[in-house]
Amino acid sequence: MTATEWWRQAVGYEIYPQSFFDSNHDGIGDLPGIQSKVAYLQSLGVDFVWLASFYPSGHVDSGYDVTDYRNVDPQFGTLADFDALVTALHAVNIKVVIDLALNHTSIQHPWFQAAQRDRTSAYHDYYIWRDSDGTTLPNNWESVFGTSAWTPNPATGEAYLHSFAPEQPDLNWENPAVQREMADIVQWWANRHVDGFRFDGVTHLKKCADFADVAHPRTDYYRDLAGVGPYLAALRPVLQRNHLVAIGEAGGIDMATAKQWLDPENGYFDLLLEFDHVHFWETAEPKLPVADLRANMSKWQVALEGYAWNALFIENHDLPRAVSYYGDGTAYPRRSAQALGMWYMLMKGTPFIYQGQELGLPNAHFKRLDDYRDLDSLNYYHRQLAAGVPETAILAQLATKSRDNARTPLPWTPDEYGGFSTHQPWIGLTPGLATRNVATEQQDPHSVLTFYQQLIQFKKAIPALQSGRYELIDTQDNQLYVYRRTLNGDNWQVVVNMSSQVATTQEFDLTASELILTNLRVDADSDDQVIQPWEARLYHLRKVEQ
Ligand code: GLC
Ligand code: CA
Repeated sequence: MTATEWWRQAVGYEIYPQSFFDSNHDGIGDLPGIQSKVAYLQSLGVDFVWLASFYPSGHVDSGYDVTDYRNVDPQFGTLADFDALVTALHAVNIKVVIDLALNHTSIQHPWFQAAQRDRTSAYHDYYIWRDSDGTTLPNNWESVFGTSAWTPNPATGEAYLHSFAPEQPDLNWENPAVQREMADIVQWWANRHVDGFRFDGVTHLKKCADFADVAHPRTDYYRDLAGVGPYLAALRPVLQRNHLVAIGEAGGIDMATAKQWLDPENGYFDLLLEFDHVHFWETAEPKLPVADLRANMSKWQVALEGYAWNALFIENHDLPRAVSYYGDGTAYPRRSAQALGMWYMLMKGTPFIYQGQELGLPNAHFKRLDDYRDLDSLNYYHRQLAAGVPETAILAQLATKSRDNARTPLPWTPDEYGGFSTHQPWIGLTPGLATRNVATEQQDPHSVLTFYQQLIQFKKAIPALQSGRYELIDTQDNQLYVYRRTLNGDNWQVVVNMSSQVATTQEFDLTASELILTNLRVDADSDDQVIQPWEARLYHLRKVEQ
């Protein structure tokens, strides 16, 4: 392993700048706020942070509609604040990964402003256009956020493509000038000493060349994944030259493409954030059965063994909270949050923790439309209402699925606004503040936070949990997730009851093993074969003669 592969031994932490800590009392988190909490990040034991989008933006998609790729949104501070934050994090050996939206800009970006004015502008070809008289749209393609993916532009007699909101026009990656711009932007941030990038929405970059109608208007037109490769190749030299870690957000990627993109010699990424374990968009009942989780997680663990490296995550700023989604936030809020932590973090790969996950924060579970800020949630509400769905049903859906569930301010203390700010925050707080906050959980040896700190320590201290081979022990049931990690004959076993019922098992032998870490205060004569709801155990297996 080369020194540049530091990320294989690392634990990452995603920060959502709006909601981490507000230093200047305007109700919005900011970069100096993050800097003031470096000691907290250090106490957690994380090795790098991923800062979600902080660029100046049109504030339509919460920072993912960028107007300037070489600056900081004034609400978060200045470039000087950014530099100071990087210096402060590096001083305690925490590396810095930043987000970069490659697929689209804001309509307010100067490129688009020039492009939309006339067809002869050098920037016109930075975007994707089709002739349109303003009433007929070029085809049936739909955006991820609902409605047509085309918006007419009367000034040029065309329509432009947007895979997301109309305020987020898609860049034309066919154009080598676009590729060069993005490579230059990467270099510009490398000069400010960032350690890597999380590239947003990479699977969207390539569109169907024929611009014909597609069978599934929301997805089919951009998932020409093989075609994305040559675009990404344009970024490879700058990433390599600067020894940057490249993390790709790769929703919907298939294994064959993932292996190409992760190819140790000719690939484009070090880590891919894939979503095979997250299926809540497609179904009314969001939860994946444990048997499916076993299959989906194990597929990636096995396929990348000895070839590339997994990224492990159960939360981010686009997903509901894990304890509410995978766990049982009602009957076992603490225990299930801890169990989920052990379950995914001790698999093989680089774990990412999303801010607040380490506190066991559940969904915000907002009750009124006014509580929501996320454009995707608001669009969803209006679309469903227009389709005749009763308001109570829509609000119930949002309460489980909205991205805002995870975007609430991080509670630091039990005080007003969770000590996040002295000013009313830009979005409401998650209920349960009195007990679920950093200060209270730091004092409690049995808190979710303390358990996460232990997990991080184990993950980093035990070589087998870092680089040992993963092996699923298939319990053939719908409760237990059991796997082993093995390195040079050193065996560890993780047993997690991912259900709210007691599980019993004869499938595996725990007698020749030592219980090292658990989220239950076990009494001495508890039965090894009976696993309590959301109980999680880490065993060190004694060497067995084979
Ligand atoms: C990514 C971001 C998400 C954003 C979308 C469009 O998925 O994580 O927040 O809405 O891209 O940029
Ligand atoms: Ca602020």
